[in-house]
Amino acid sequence: MSETARSRAAALPHLRRGRLAKGDPIPVPLTMAAIFHTPGDAAGFDEYGRYDNPTWRAVEHMLAHLEDAPCVGFPSGMAAISAVFFGLLKAGDRILLPADGYHATRALADRFLKPFDIAYDVRPTSSFLDGGFDGYRLAFVETPANPGLDICDIAAVAEAAHKAGALLAVDNTTMTPFGQRPLDFGADIVIAADTKAPNGHSDVLFGHVASRNADIIAAVSGWREMSGAIPGPFEAWLVHRGLETLDVRFDRMCSSAEVIARRLQGHPAISGLRFPGLDGDPSHNLARAQMERFGFLISFVLDSEDKAEDFINNCALMQAATSFGGVHSSAERRAKRSDAVAPGFVRLSVGCEPVEELWQAIEASLDRLA
Ligand SMILES: Cc1ncc(COP(=O)(O)O)c(C=O)c1O
Repeated sequence: MSETARSRAAALPHLRRGRLAKGDPIPVPLTMAAIFHTPGDAAGFDEYGRYDNPTWRAVEHMLAHLEDAPCVGFPSGMAAISAVFFGLLKAGDRILLPADGYHATRALADRFLKPFDIAYDVRPTSSFLDGGFDGYRLAFVETPANPGLDICDIAAVAEAAHKAGALLAVDNTTMTPFGQRPLDFGADIVIAADTKAPNGHSDVLFGHVASRNADIIAAVSGWREMSGAIPGPFEAWLVHRGLETLDVRFDRMCSSAEVIARRLQGHPAISGLRFPGLDGDPSHNLARAQMERFGFLISFVLDSEDKAEDFINNCALMQAATSFGGVHSSAERRAKRSDAVAPGFVRLSVGCEPVEELWQAIEASLDRLA
């Protein structure tokens, strides 16, 4: 981790310190309130739970610290993506999405933007620059993309998009702000599903939008207030707690993923191994240039759907589950989710288990299938 990322991590648990009065609780209080005491003029005060909430502000403060940009919290990653689309786009706009990214983003555009005369095109993440950005209002990338783990050059895409008059939004869910900070490479908007590693305990959905552009922040927070797509205070409180250990968990998960990916190389039961940290991986050189770590996601292909299910379901230290980024390792056969991948394609999310024990469980489950 770079020195600046380390100093961000060090300051994170102390962000509230400067504002504490004697006798205040050190942990952030959970404020469950739909209404606030506001006799007379309410300007400058909390008034109504759809407008703002002290627990949201606490978690947004942490996220803003990590992103080095103002942040707006949402009840899920998809709610954050929706806020960007519905807060910023208008009829007649055209947007560009990753062909190989999270499937619900394309489904959202297809089912709910198209009827409002907002068109979308898709392009593979690894060649996202090809074809330029003329005519687009928004380019949206996911890097590394879920689930194929291809990467695109954020700085180059930002430059080309801006030249063409387009905004660049990056879904940074697979990396977290400790792994990559797209705004530092010129992106206009970062979106993340904090449902994953930032919360980390698989008990909450949450999302955020970060931007250094005040108009963008005003647009997405206006969307949140008017649409009512607001996070619950308890969910915000849990994400606040999760963020306090993100650095430690992310470090363990990324380090373990490096070990496991290296050992998976050449295993006779698998093919198509992808992990940006492997020397020969198509994403490796770019990953070294723009990512702080190589992440905790690994993908590979088993011969058949049955073998993939067998590997996942019979690995003693693996949860068979969708999503990723939890303390427990988990895996999913992504063809189940209509991703354009082989039937035996597995996305594996490395968790916080001690790496040797985890490797032994993975190896034992794979060896039976070789
Ligand atoms: C890359 C990516 N973006 C966004 C989302 C949506 O997040 P949520 O499920 O919190 O709405 C996901 C969920 O898996 C994801 O993988």
